Amino acid sequence: MSKGINLPSMICFRVTRFCNARCGFCLAPPDGGVHPAVAVLRERINWLFANDVKTIHFCGGEPTIHHQLHELIEYVHAQHRKSKLTTNGIALSDRLVRALFTTKTQVKVSLHGPKAHHNEVVGCDAFDKTVANIRRLMAAGISTSMQTTIVSGELAVVDWTVQFCIDNGIKRVSFLPFIPRGNGLAQRSKYELSGSERRNLQELVKQKRRKLLNRMDIRLNDFNIRPIHVVEPDGSIVLEKATEAMDELLCRIPQSPSFI
Ligand SMILES: C[S@@+](CC[C@H](N)C(=O)[O-])C[C@H]1O[C@@H](n2cnc3c(N)ncnc32)[C@H](O)[C@@H]1O
Ligand code: SF4
Repeated sequence: MSKGINLPSMICFRVTRFCNARCGFCLAPPDGGVHPAVAVLRERINWLFANDVKTIHFCGGEPTIHHQLHELIEYVHAQHRKSKLTTNGIALSDRLVRALFTTKTQVKVSLHGPKAHHNEVVGCDAFDKTVANIRRLMAAGISTSMQTTIVSGELAVVDWTVQFCIDNGIKRVSFLPFIPRGNGLAQRSKYELSGSERRNLQELVKQKRRKLLNRMDIRLNDFNIRPIHVVEPDGSIVLEKATEAMDELLCRIPQSPSFI
């Protein structure tokens, strides 16, 4: 196994870029690329573990589109490492829910506000399915939090989301200000927050955090500020920044000749 690259203890692992939604702002939209076999993904996970990664954060595209996601999650657990999952929550199979429970995987579900707004931004009639699946995960005893992308003109979504969390017993929420990546680049004029909206959002989140201190963990995760390490479905490791033009290709995970 090769060494020599410094990776964070947790890495975003894209099992596919395919998706069952069509978010106008999607930072990682379908790219016509590969949908790798589970054996290839397992080999990449081994390589990441050999390079000191401790937690695999399954994301995409929509990771639940990969029919063997549950096997990968169980594999990570069998290696005594942790997994996390971010999903749009539209379609969660029973075997996936079972694997999430037995492996104590932490799940973030993306819900972007009230029904009409959510369905408009995700480009399909997803709200009821996602809400039903959030309640299903909570009822199954799976550690479930919410993730909400905030777009221009929609700061009221913060209040709505926090209330939704209170009503549904959800203890953690992350707000992501829109960033102009992927599909989002062409939608910049529609979705990008102005400077004053950005400041208002920071203030609003601060106020909520103060008000709900010890009752809810409320975060603002601004990818404009904090770059993240991502494994793409083709096995490349990229340091993703605010725009694709600023990204850095760090390396490609070596692949056994039998998989090429
Ligand atoms: C790329 S998605 C992948 C996982 C899954 N498909 C989902 O939507 O949860 C990961 C997170 O990024 C958020 N996101 C996507 N595009 C974004 C953008 N342009 N700006 C900020 N957040 C974005 C999504 O809402 C989601 O919470
Ligand atoms: S943000 Fe997630 S759900 Fe929306 S299109 Fe992108 S991958 Fe799919």
